[in-house]
Amino acid sequence: MCGIIAYFGKKDVAPILIDGLKRLEYRGYDSAGVCLLNNGELFMAKVKGRVSELEKLALNLKHSNIGIAHTRWATHGEPSEVNAHPHFDCKNEIAVVHNGIIENYTTLKEILEKEGHKFISKTDTEVLSHLIEKFYNNNLEEAVTKALELVVGTFGIAVVCKKENKIVVARRGSPIVLGVGEGENIIASDAVAVLPFTKKVIYLNDNEMVVLTDNKYEIKNFDGQIVEKEIDEIKWTAAEIEKKGFKHFMLKEIFEQPASIENTLRGRIDENLNIKLSIDNIDLKSIKRITIVACGTAWHAGLIGKYLIEKIAGIPTDVDYASEFRYRNPIVREGDLVIAISQSGETADTLAALREAKLKGAKTLGIINVVGSTIGREVDSGIYLHAGPEIAVAATKSFPCMLTGLILFSLFLAQANGKDADKELLEELNSLPEKIQEILDKSQDILLLAKKFKDTKNFFFLGRGVNFPSALEGALKLKETSYIHAEGYPAAEMKHGPIALVDPELVSVFFAMNDHTYAKILSNMEEVRARGGQIIAVVNEANSDILNLTKNVIVVPKCREELMPIISAIPLQLLAYYIADLRGFDVDKPKNLAKSVTVE
Ligand code: G6P
Repeated sequence: MCGIIAYFGKKDVAPILIDGLKRLEYRGYDSAGVCLLNNGELFMAKVKGRVSELEKLALNLKHSNIGIAHTRWATHGEPSEVNAHPHFDCKNEIAVVHNGIIENYTTLKEILEKEGHKFISKTDTEVLSHLIEKFYNNNLEEAVTKALELVVGTFGIAVVCKKENKIVVARRGSPIVLGVGEGENIIASDAVAVLPFTKKVIYLNDNEMVVLTDNKYEIKNFDGQIVEKEIDEIKWTAAEIEKKGFKHFMLKEIFEQPASIENTLRGRIDENLNIKLSIDNIDLKSIKRITIVACGTAWHAGLIGKYLIEKIAGIPTDVDYASEFRYRNPIVREGDLVIAISQSGETADTLAALREAKLKGAKTLGIINVVGSTIGREVDSGIYLHAGPEIAVAATKSFPCMLTGLILFSLFLAQANGKDADKELLEELNSLPEKIQEILDKSQDILLLAKKFKDTKNFFFLGRGVNFPSALEGALKLKETSYIHAEGYPAAEMKHGPIALVDPELVSVFFAMNDHTYAKILSNMEEVRARGGQIIAVVNEANSDILNLTKNVIVVPKCREELMPIISAIPLQLLAYYIADLRGFDVDKPKNLAKSVTVE
């Protein structure tokens, strides 16, 4: 949700900032801007629209080695050039880029306006540049610190002032990573923008600032004390953040899933079929109740997690939208474990829910993809997914990896509590990558279905039991990439209202795999067919029962019930991708969305 980048070094800064913004564009892409500092002058360019539209303007600015830049996902004020960052003070001497929300900006704005400051944008961010101006007395760090004392809300900011050769960066609630290079330093909202320069990084904590000057960085807290921090190493390679010949990142990430799952599993099941996870700091024998908090696709993984943990480990489990958990004064008791699931490890609602759980005394576990992310650093223990970087806004490969992580955790919990190992499930887990590859090898069949149904206006996704959350995920993927109305429902609930919508125009995607709900699902399919509705069925076998109801079948390999949501997710991701692409949309950057939602 907004990406910021800043560079201080020896190289020409504009191409560096543009390349970084392109890598951060998944965080927002409705407007963008840069500001370069050269010999006591600031040079600025902003556009409404994509970073590619900013590129030419930015590259034509005066050559410089110091600069800050921003790609925006609008919160306050519509996407426009004037609302694009950087924002300036009255004298155009101070420039600020910001990721986050200044919650008390109206109050601050009123005060500043009374003092004579003139605002030109509708953003919350502009109060920051004016506040810094108000406190500026030839010391940018000091002015930034004083300004931030008055701010309520979240921020990751980078600030330059034409009178000083430095960049001041600060963080509260929005991620900032510092890339430590040779004679150059770079800061960004995410390590993917730093990776082309260096693998050496330092993650800033809340209430810390970093000052970049010639060849040097200095990290301090807001009280001005120097903070010594360790340098981490990014494990991802620069090649992993390229498209590698695929038309879109989404397609590449769908096809990476066999390898991603292998990476999630790697080293975690030993030769005696014991699970090996390093979950320290949590006494697994004392857990009485589990609450899962997450958003979006991760929340769907959480719904399946409930089923898995209860079935495999026998511990009662609830699932909450992180945004709801946080604000309903949840009851947390001794023996409670709160699991936060998040690809990015930065989602503001999930982070807030985690902090709330910790405040109330719960133990916390993270199931996270991005190593070094804020959630990853704040949980008591974690299971990293090692799915590799996920760049497309719509989550794909992180989903089956989250489910794999949840299965491993459920088995580990069962093992810790003295339950016999489910050897068959463990063996099947190891065969997952192969089964997913089988589906991917038949992707052209799904493309044919996509061609047939690309102009459909309404879709239902219907499943029972463990396939109900898969139905929600299938609907979410389709609506977010293709802008087609789609609803996920438990198949049996359809009779209680939604069936009124069934007509020959409506397409229902059924999960009719060989589990104990199969016979009931067939009846639900009959009910839709009887009302003239069209059907796509995801099945293990295209038998005569199914073929009498529909010829639109997607056959997926048989597997244990616990693994079905992983298997069934793949064709639905492909269906959503192909429909979106056939309809001519920018699949990796759907309208109005952003990937890492760092505002509540
Ligand atoms: C956004 C993304 C979704 C993602 C959700 C949670 O809404 O568009 O794809 O599932 O955030 O993100 P997280 O990083 O916490 O898994």
